[in-house]
Amino acid sequence: MTVLDINKARACFPSLKSGHIYADNAGGSRTAQPAIDRIVDYLSNTNAPLKAGCAAINSQYVVEGSIAAVELFNATSLDEVGFGSSSTMLFENIARALENDIQPGDEFIISYEHEANNGPWKRLAERRNAVLKYWRPIPVSAENPYSVAYKVEELLPLVSSRTRLAAITACSNILGSVHPVEEIVKALRQRAKEQGAIKIEVVLDCVAYAPHRRMDVQKWDVDYCVISSYKVFGPHNAVAYVRSAALQTSLTSIAHDFLKVDDKPRKFQPDGPGHELVYGASAIVPYLKSLTPADDLTASFDAIAKHEQEILTPLLRFLTDAKQVDRGVRIFGKSEVDFSRISTVCFVVVGQNAIKSKDIVEAFYKKGGITIQRGYFGSYHLIDNLRPKLDVDDGVVRISFVHYNTAEEVEKILDVLREVLA
Ligand SMILES: Cc1ncc(COP(=O)(O)O)c(C=O)c1O
Repeated sequence: MTVLDINKARACFPSLKSGHIYADNAGGSRTAQPAIDRIVDYLSNTNAPLKAGCAAINSQYVVEGSIAAVELFNATSLDEVGFGSSSTMLFENIARALENDIQPGDEFIISYEHEANNGPWKRLAERRNAVLKYWRPIPVSAENPYSVAYKVEELLPLVSSRTRLAAITACSNILGSVHPVEEIVKALRQRAKEQGAIKIEVVLDCVAYAPHRRMDVQKWDVDYCVISSYKVFGPHNAVAYVRSAALQTSLTSIAHDFLKVDDKPRKFQPDGPGHELVYGASAIVPYLKSLTPADDLTASFDAIAKHEQEILTPLLRFLTDAKQVDRGVRIFGKSEVDFSRISTVCFVVVGQNAIKSKDIVEAFYKKGGITIQRGYFGSYHLIDNLRPKLDVDDGVVRISFVHYNTAEEVEKILDVLREVLA
């Protein structure tokens, strides 16, 4: 397997030149220079209404954003991808466009994850008198109640003849666990068929997954999938995949009523999604491909996963060490480092010598030179439902690496943690 050239990757990020250690990447990665260049180029040289006069070039630039998104999702056509200001906005747009295809009594299964893929379905259920069912994570460790996971066995009993929609994630932004999407969707569709469900669609939140692993909406057999470009080394916007069958048969356009957009992403993208950002996002795929000589997304993501697992190991080992466990450190999700865990680790310090997450993060700020974060990171209900109960507003400490983080950076973070947890 090709090894990542970290120095070459880091050189693409102007914000890394200062040497500051960014370990808050799950909240947003740094932006790669090619994405910045495209935005500057667009605004400096081609900013004009699309297709207006001399502006054919900017229309082509916007199409390049869709071409890149098709490759990233492994979608089948340009008509299956659309842009928005954030994933939260795109999920809401899709829910609005789905409204006419939802009947009273239809059932939505949602997992307790980031609110972006929960809230729109709760509100849609309320508007259309649909029923909500929750797929809850369960403890998978006798010692650590916060080591929870989503199990297919817990999901299947929720499926009935009225199941219309399942809103799930490919990866949890708190647990750091990669979910076996293909297996989950297969089991879900099979059970729905056995129960006599007429139409079931799967909405996948891929925001926490996309910077770490290769997506494949066709293999996964999902109908909707959303990512945020600003977490995948691009600008602050988001991209949605909507399967062409769903575009044609499930969505009613939320665009202007006189526009003929029946089989187009504009059904859920009512107007210009920031064209310079769409062009900026088109740089993500060439950047990712440039990470290995193979010039291939799968090879790049294999190399990314391998590197991330290497740098994650010492952090996870430290946090799950018997000494730290006695100290009160509890991580979220699994403690093993394997392909089903990305390089995002959340933890709390509980017990007699508990430390507030806020104080841990502040200790890092006082030292300077390293950014980590704490909070509930949009997954309020996931944390609120864990037992023993946590202070959700203080939240969890989150340390999240991407491929440009180095083993030396991890060592420096461990030095601070050793002091704080002494
Ligand atoms: C898993 C997950 N889903 C959705 C979102 C929302 O993304 P956006 O900020 O683009 O709305 C986030 C943001 O942190 C996230 O981590």
